[in-house]
Amino acid sequence: MSVLVTNIGELVTNSDRRLGLARDMAVVTENDRIAWVGPAGRAPAADSVLDVDGAAVLPGFVDSHAHLAFAGDRAAEFAARMAGEPYTGGGIRTTVGATRAASDADLRRNVTRLVTEMRRQGTTTVEIKSGYGLNVDDEARSLRIAAELTSETTFLGAHVVPAEHAGDPWKYVGLVTGPMLAAARPYARWIDVFCERGAFDEDQSRTILAAGQAAGLGLRVHGNQLGPGPGVRLAVEMGAASVDHCTHLDDADVDALASTAMDCMCAEGGHSTTVATLLPGAEFSTRSPYPDARRLLDAGVTVALATDCNPGSSYTSSMPFCIALAVREMRMTPAEAVWAATAGGAHALRRGDVGRITVGARADLIVLDAPSHLHLAYRPGVPLIRSVLHNGVLQ
Ligand code: NIG
Ligand code: FE
Repeated sequence: MSVLVTNIGELVTNSDRRLGLARDMAVVTENDRIAWVGPAGRAPAADSVLDVDGAAVLPGFVDSHAHLAFAGDRAAEFAARMAGEPYTGGGIRTTVGATRAASDADLRRNVTRLVTEMRRQGTTTVEIKSGYGLNVDDEARSLRIAAELTSETTFLGAHVVPAEHAGDPWKYVGLVTGPMLAAARPYARWIDVFCERGAFDEDQSRTILAAGQAAGLGLRVHGNQLGPGPGVRLAVEMGAASVDHCTHLDDADVDALASTAMDCMCAEGGHSTTVATLLPGAEFSTRSPYPDARRLLDAGVTVALATDCNPGSSYTSSMPFCIALAVREMRMTPAEAVWAATAGGAHALRRGDVGRITVGARADLIVLDAPSHLHLAYRPGVPLIRSVLHNGVLQ
């Protein structure tokens, strides 16, 4: 089954480190891959035609950081925060209680609802973390359900130490690196750790990441969210694909990230960059200062944007909202923000087949209700995703 997407006013290809904008273009997809990209006048025939009437076409968003495997919500906690309470991460345990109590069907319904919500807003690749089960069975089932919806699954047994292990965090680290990792492993591609005061310290985080690496998982880190700390340097030291949040950085953190950045997008297996994934939805929802994206970009760090969708610190599923925040609040240009939400996310997941529109890449495209990618930040809060093609299929 082939589709000719034609009459494209502005095409964002991400064929290099920039957006790679082109005008009057067409794209042909063949099954789940992009088969041809070129001037509209020279496009080959296809089984069906999608005439986008001068609209902008982009790669589908790659949301490389989301905590969707949960039950319940924490709207009251949000209201208390907006009335002046600080965010500490302590509410994670509330969601752990709700998630453990949920049936498989309820958990599946919630994850599916959120993935559907994301898809409508242009996200065609999403990473899903566990981290609200925090025991062997509930972590494994969170990942089993997540794996039904994405191949980008992340074991986050090291989210916080659950209440029943509060007196002995190292014993909990033993559980995470032993039976929990073994049960999670069949369903997980990545392992993540919340390396932060009040969660896991540097030694505990290193132990957890090393165990995941030995089990064949790729590494991701939550670091430097609530204050300065060792997360970023640990992520770089261990070759993590991404360190996420990056809100409180010192010069050594920025230098360490910049030293890993590469100038090209390489095929899977050839990556050594540690991406800085920024999650402005979290700063919005916790009313905190935003990360300094400008400083990272000017230092040459590879930056991704993601939603961090979770019921506590960032209950948004919208990549366009994150792009608008990044431009307004983090001094990113619209082009940098759109790149970070597509190609940047692909780098953070070490994927060469998503986040760009080139021959051989996945046929994941979004058509905007606008003539240019600029409108994503220029028209915040407006539903600008007109159509989504996922794996070559119009959604
Ligand atoms: O990435 N920082 C740790 N985890 C989540 C928040 C989880 C929650 O509050 O439920 C985050 O912001
Ligand atoms: Fe997170």
